[in-house]
Amino acid sequence: METHVPTREEAMALVKEFNQGEGLLRHALAVEAVMRYMARRRGADPDTWGVVGLVHDLDYERFPDQHCRKTGEILRERGWPQEYVRAAVSHGWGLCSDVEPRSDLEKVLFAVDELTGLVAASALVRPSRSVLDLEAKSVRKKWKDKAFAAGVNREVIQRGAEMLGMDLGDLITEVIMGMREVAAELGLRGNL
Ligand SMILES: [Fe+2]
Ligand SMILES: [Fe+2]
Repeated sequence: METHVPTREEAMALVKEFNQGEGLLRHALAVEAVMRYMARRRGADPDTWGVVGLVHDLDYERFPDQHCRKTGEILRERGWPQEYVRAAVSHGWGLCSDVEPRSDLEKVLFAVDELTGLVAASALVRPSRSVLDLEAKSVRKKWKDKAFAAGVNREVIQRGAEMLGMDLGDLITEVIMGMREVAAELGLRGNL
């Protein structure tokens, strides 16, 4: 049997089939962009990493109570390879999944998922409302302010950085760099 290699077009069609909300689409695009950026930095395959980033929250709008598990079911039904299914499901390790991140792709996804939300929120409170002039140190300040973007799970991000053996500031910088590449699509160009 030939291996099915999911394309970006296929991933995007799935995301649109299961998601109507603008917020989740932007989140999917943010995580995709960061995954692509980080794959390039690590000499990994940006398409594989990007596609997993795009679909990781596929089930969240329609099946919030079955988050992660349902995404696994859908991707398997559509014939996606186990590598992709495992990676997508592992992002919710300890929260909605018992699949522990093992590969580099999985660890990076786990670490950056929530962080994209904190970076976006930090950009939007700048005078520029832009990610283009946002720096890691501003995000670190917001990190310490627990009331700011309170829904962002800092513990998960911290655990992700530890898995990668990365300094939190460096991780934040890479997430910012990845998101800058699609700033317009994310509504984060602001007035720059
Ligand atoms: Fe999720
Ligand atoms: Fe997510």
